[in-house]
Amino acid sequence: MVQSLLDFLNEAPVNFLATASVARHLEEAGFEHYDASAPLFSIQPGDMFYFTKNDSSIYAFRIGRQPLGEGGFRLICAHCDSPTFRIKPNAEMKGDGGVVKLNTEVYGGPILSTWFDRPLSLAGRVVLRTDDIMNPMTRLLHIKEPLLQIPSLAIHFNRQVNDGVKLSRQKDMLPILGIVNSELEENNMLLHLIGDELGVDIDDVLDFDVYLYDATPACLFGLHKEFISSGRLDDLSMVHAAMTAMLDAQPDIPDVTQVMAIFDNEETGSNTKQGAGSPFLSSVLQRICHAQSGSMDDYYRALEKAFMISADNAHAWHPNYAEKYDPTTHALMGGGPVIKYNAAQKYASDAVSAAVFVGICEKAGVPCQRFVNHSDVAGGSTLGNILTSSLPLCGVDMGNPIWAMHSARETGSVKDHIYCIKAFTTFYELPYIEG
Ligand code: CO
Repeated sequence: MVQSLLDFLNEAPVNFLATASVARHLEEAGFEHYDASAPLFSIQPGDMFYFTKNDSSIYAFRIGRQPLGEGGFRLICAHCDSPTFRIKPNAEMKGDGGVVKLNTEVYGGPILSTWFDRPLSLAGRVVLRTDDIMNPMTRLLHIKEPLLQIPSLAIHFNRQVNDGVKLSRQKDMLPILGIVNSELEENNMLLHLIGDELGVDIDDVLDFDVYLYDATPACLFGLHKEFISSGRLDDLSMVHAAMTAMLDAQPDIPDVTQVMAIFDNEETGSNTKQGAGSPFLSSVLQRICHAQSGSMDDYYRALEKAFMISADNAHAWHPNYAEKYDPTTHALMGGGPVIKYNAAQKYASDAVSAAVFVGICEKAGVPCQRFVNHSDVAGGSTLGNILTSSLPLCGVDMGNPIWAMHSARETGSVKDHIYCIKAFTTFYELPYIEG
């Protein structure tokens, strides 16, 4: 189970590849790809299908015996984007001796210093010319070899480096691509690289969404191999847990419809057509309701009966920084999935939804923990409350505890991952109880 998480982390260096990987796993299990632009006709209990939006978000459904209006639905959502650096247009910058670096723009909120001095590479999507201007072709890009590095400044140029350094996103964070050593390479190095990788003519490359990623594969460490070391644990570990639960849940025709929504752009506020702020999920749910011969009233009834688990990682108590955590309620690494509360409602959890999740963990036989911020620490936010402001679901914000959230290399717990999959599987399997 943990090897399958490591494999998933390695094949999903960015949002587009994560979406493609989830789609592949779903298809291998018999889920069918539905095109959102095609009509949605009748839907039967046991049907398994998924939609994508923008190639960077994915919405999977396993239809239950109860129509949506009667049974509601069980939703697990997570996000597939992580903090990184986007390659800017005209990215190549040439310096003395032919050294070429790439101009980048920060995506989300990375801990900048963690991106120094480690092998990096490129992944994303490339858009190619076709005969139909309105429908260019999209190809995924995943350069699997180390290709770039952002070298830090030697300590001899800044003796105060260990006392804290202010970093410029424009000056300090640009990765080195190579040294130009021939006339031929003078122009469009990056485009040639992409063209060679995809086997296409560079004149056909119209544009791309390409990002840096940490090229060192995910691995386990610790005395008992109890820790996971990887980029993008936030939130691909929760994506993997949700996907595994959906694929493992029994029986083939559940009582209640299972939904998994993997959104993009959580790290930049979710307000895109493929983010949790988008009406896309709500419109698909309405269409499913209609395809079951239900009315708008049935759709609104479904929302009242549904339950959402918004799964995004939580902060594990860090032994070097105990003062940053709430004195009475903090989550321990290996202590199980964490319910997140916030009085300012940055998290969707309340006593009712938390009680439901506690019950799910009890039934699954796994421990469950709670997290609140130290009151002098602002803390983060997630997608649960953004989704519920347009889709008014009862739901809980939770996630597995990790260290170094938004580092290029985060640390998670093997045990917690297994606990989380058990809890999610139990949630999807809960029978329908009338009333
Ligand atoms: Co997150």
